[in-house]
Amino acid sequence: MKRRIGILTSGGDCPGLNAAIRGVTRAAYEMFDAEIIGIHDGYRGLIEGDYSLMTRSQFSGILTLGGTILGTARTPFRNMRVIGEDKIDKVAAMKKTYKELKLDCLVTLGGNGTHKTANLLSEEGLNVIGLPKTIDNDLYGTDFTFGFHTAMDIATGVIDRIHTTAASHGRTMVIEIMGNKAGWLTLYSGVAGGADVILIPEIPYEIEEVAKVVEKRAKNNKGFTIIAVAEGAMNRKEAKMKKKEREAKRAAEHYSAAADVASQLSEMVGVEARAVVPGHIQRGGSPSAYDRVLSTQFGVHAAELIRDECYGVTVALKGNQITHNALKDIAGVPKLVPTDDQMVSIARDMGISFGEKE
Ligand code: F6P
Repeated sequence: MKRRIGILTSGGDCPGLNAAIRGVTRAAYEMFDAEIIGIHDGYRGLIEGDYSLMTRSQFSGILTLGGTILGTARTPFRNMRVIGEDKIDKVAAMKKTYKELKLDCLVTLGGNGTHKTANLLSEEGLNVIGLPKTIDNDLYGTDFTFGFHTAMDIATGVIDRIHTTAASHGRTMVIEIMGNKAGWLTLYSGVAGGADVILIPEIPYEIEEVAKVVEKRAKNNKGFTIIAVAEGAMNRKEAKMKKKEREAKRAAEHYSAAADVASQLSEMVGVEARAVVPGHIQRGGSPSAYDRVLSTQFGVHAAELIRDECYGVTVALKGNQITHNALKDIAGVPKLVPTDDQMVSIARDMGISFGEKE
């Protein structure tokens, strides 16, 4: 049985992409006569016909490697059907590359935007299989995406280090964790790092409530406070604004959630507060052991789906089972932190504040 497989990574990179690429390709080479075409820089490569025929050895030695050997790019889904100044019909161009390459299927590794385009291509008649990647863990239909646990380890490591310096100086330290829409990474690393306050986009906060926590800790002779804030966290006032308006305001101000919270607390409580933004460090470097295993499991399941000609799906983790969902059921459905999520109530029961009124 022969299969020509195109493979691409799209959207923001994360640790585990190479491990997943290795998982798919290695299992494919083992299971059937596979020819792999690596498409460069995500959908851009598919649109522009930028790809290369890969050899098996190119997928060797990449298990522990961060980033993606295929390159990646953000190609916003909302522009996919829009013909811009370059006059390129992007959907037609992607279909043309797929046909010219005589692909049996296209494997796309990515997050929400990637899956929307994967579904579009599936609806256009291409055989597509998705793999769920993102440090944000905000892809519907899977318990975890690969990349999330590594980013959690990194963010937790940052909080741990901040803890010791915060305690030494008796400071309030505000650490900004990645996640513009979804607070999973902040929630989990905040719990893992023993944060006193966790602020996430899904639960708008009141700065006065955060200030109360800082004051209470000071009264109880805890001279320092650790606050984990998601980059997309917002106060109640901002939450009432229209999304576009809020985003434009933030862009114009070069907004930083951590800097904002830290400066407000300095003024309100008179504490010495510092903001820390680890930024893209959270997406860099080698995947954790958990993510290596998950990426490998996802990759191998994708190869099994190719063998079985089961297309129009994306791989998922449910409980401890590797399975798959129909692309049409999950594409475009973001998975945000429900306000009654068990981890939220566990954090609340631990006395962690979300900056809400008591
Ligand atoms: O989607 C992953 C993510 O790291 C988000 O957490 C973050 O908001 C965004 O990407 C940053 O995007 P960029 O790498 O394009 O700056």
